[in-house]
Amino acid sequence: DSTVAVIVVAAGSGTRLGRPEPKAFVPLGDDTVLGVALDAVLGMSDAPYLVVVAPDERVEEARAIVAARAGGASVAFDVVAGGETRQESVSRGIGALPHVIETVLVHDAARPLTPSIVFDEVAAAVRARGHGVVPGLPVIDTIKRVDARGRIVATVDRSELAAMQTPQGFPRSALEHAYSRAHGEHTDDAALVESVGMPIDIVPGDARAFKITVPADLHRAEQLVAERAD
Ligand code: C5P
Repeated sequence: DSTVAVIVVAAGSGTRLGRPEPKAFVPLGDDTVLGVALDAVLGMSDAPYLVVVAPDERVEEARAIVAARAGGASVAFDVVAGGETRQESVSRGIGALPHVIETVLVHDAARPLTPSIVFDEVAAAVRARGHGVVPGLPVIDTIKRVDARGRIVATVDRSELAAMQTPQGFPRSALEHAYSRAHGEHTDDAALVESVGMPIDIVPGDARAFKITVPADLHRAEQLVAERAD
């Protein structure tokens, strides 16, 4: 669908992974984290417009990675430089959207194994409902609220909680409104859209949409990629 865009944010350094290269450029199988993430986006049932947000010094490298696959799939795309924070990187991605785009999905390159169907479902739900839709999973661990000294203050009712994933989808107007109005830093796009009082629904996420953060996550991703290749 030519009115849907996916912004893939890949401009983080990924210090917790302990690799010299930025996280999106770390090898994964015979590819990179970014390459695997892009294949998932390009597996959508209708090709979206693609915006990749890359580290400043890696824009050309990212452009080559994107062109190698989007070209073959004849998908239109742009690659732009990111900022200091994820929020700033998303904001730059929004700035690169063509006029025709009505629905925007924001996705972490650091979640490369997210199945294509999750993108399809989020995009369809945004259009059907006319507001934000984000994938979430039930919280497995018991969660405590703790004070500065490390003492437990309360046990949070787990049934009221959901762990957020990406792609997070929004009507373009809602996302632009939230980004133009919001103050301070938010850890995901949903938080920004919530902060300006707009509704967002949760749809079922997928365990494979986990975020690569520490070395054990990369190991898990390597295993899943190897299994897929069998
Ligand atoms: O650091 P973390 O893994 O939580 O970042 C989530 C996603 O946001 C990653 O895909 C990362 O590349 C991206 N990001 C970005 N620009 C930043 C920080 C993070 O595009 N300044």
